[in-house]
Amino acid sequence: MADKDSIKETHNYYLDIPMKSEPFILRGSNSLDWGMKNRLLNIFCPDTGRTVMLAVDHGYFLGPTTGLERMDVTIVPLLPYADTLMCTRGILRSIIPPTFTKGVVLRSSGGPSILKELSNEEIAVDIEDAIRLNVAALAVQVFVGGEYETKSIHNMTRLVDVGNRYGIPVLGVTAVGKELVRDAKYMRLATRICAELGASYVKTYYVADGFETVTASCPVPIVIAGGKKLQELDALRMAYDAVQQGAAGVDMGRNVFQSEAPSAIIQALRKVVHENMAPEEAHDLYLTLKKEKK
Ligand code: R5P
Repeated sequence: MADKDSIKETHNYYLDIPMKSEPFILRGSNSLDWGMKNRLLNIFCPDTGRTVMLAVDHGYFLGPTTGLERMDVTIVPLLPYADTLMCTRGILRSIIPPTFTKGVVLRSSGGPSILKELSNEEIAVDIEDAIRLNVAALAVQVFVGGEYETKSIHNMTRLVDVGNRYGIPVLGVTAVGKELVRDAKYMRLATRICAELGASYVKTYYVADGFETVTASCPVPIVIAGGKKLQELDALRMAYDAVQQGAAGVDMGRNVFQSEAPSAIIQALRKVVHENMAPEEAHDLYLTLKKEKK
C-alpha cells in the first residue's frame, strides 16, 4: 500500500505552457485514429514523412522470380536498410525473423498466377491473421480499367472496412494492365479512386510527364513502385524525381533485389528519399559501397 505520509500536496500544472496540438506529418491523415497513425509511422519515418519500402511480394503470382529464389539469403540481409517490408504472410512466417520490428505491409490480395487473368483477385488474408502477425498495413491490388476492375476495388473497400475496425491502414496498389497506357492521366484516375474509396496511402508508378499532377490530386500519400530493373543511376533518378514531385517515398522491389549490389543500392536510395541527395551523388555512394561490399 502507498505511504500516505509521503504524498506531496504541491502540484505543478505548468499553466504557462500551452498544450500542443500538432498536425500529423502525413497528408490527409489528420483525422485518423491513434492506432492507425502509429502504424503509419511504422511505415513512414516520423522525421521525414517518407519511406523506403522493400517490396518482395512478387512471388504471390510470379513464383520464385529472379532475386527472390532464396529470400533467406538475398532479402534478410537487406532488412536493416528498409523502413518497411512488403511481403506475403507465407514469406513472413517462413523466412523473416521476428526480430524485424519495423512495419510489415502485408500482401492481402491474390489468386491468379501469371498464367491467368491477373485482375481476377480475391482478398487473400483474414483480418484476424493480419492482427496476429502485428502488421502495419494491408496491401491490395486495384486494377482500374482491368477486366475485374469492380471486383478488385471491392476487395479494397472491404479491407478498408475491416482495417478501419481494427486501426490497420490499407495500401491501394494501382496495377496497370498491359493494355492500358501508363501516363499521368491514368495514374491520376487510379490513385484518386483508391484515395476516395478509403486507402490510407497509394502505390503507383512514376511517369516522367506530369507526375506532380498525380501527387497533387491524390489527398493521401503516394509511394512509387520501381517497375522493371533499370540501371542503378536511372533508378536513383526516378526515386529522386518522384520525391521532389511530391511522392512520400518508394516501394521498390526489382531495382533493389535484382541489382548487382542490393545492399548498396538500398542504402543509396535511403539518401535520396530521406535526405534529398542528388541522384549522381547517391550513385557515387552506391559505387563506393558496392566496391567495399557493404
Ligand atoms: C507486384 O508484384 C507488387 O505489388 C510489387 O510489390 C510492386 O510491383 C513493386 O515492386 P517493383 O519495384 O519490383 O515493381
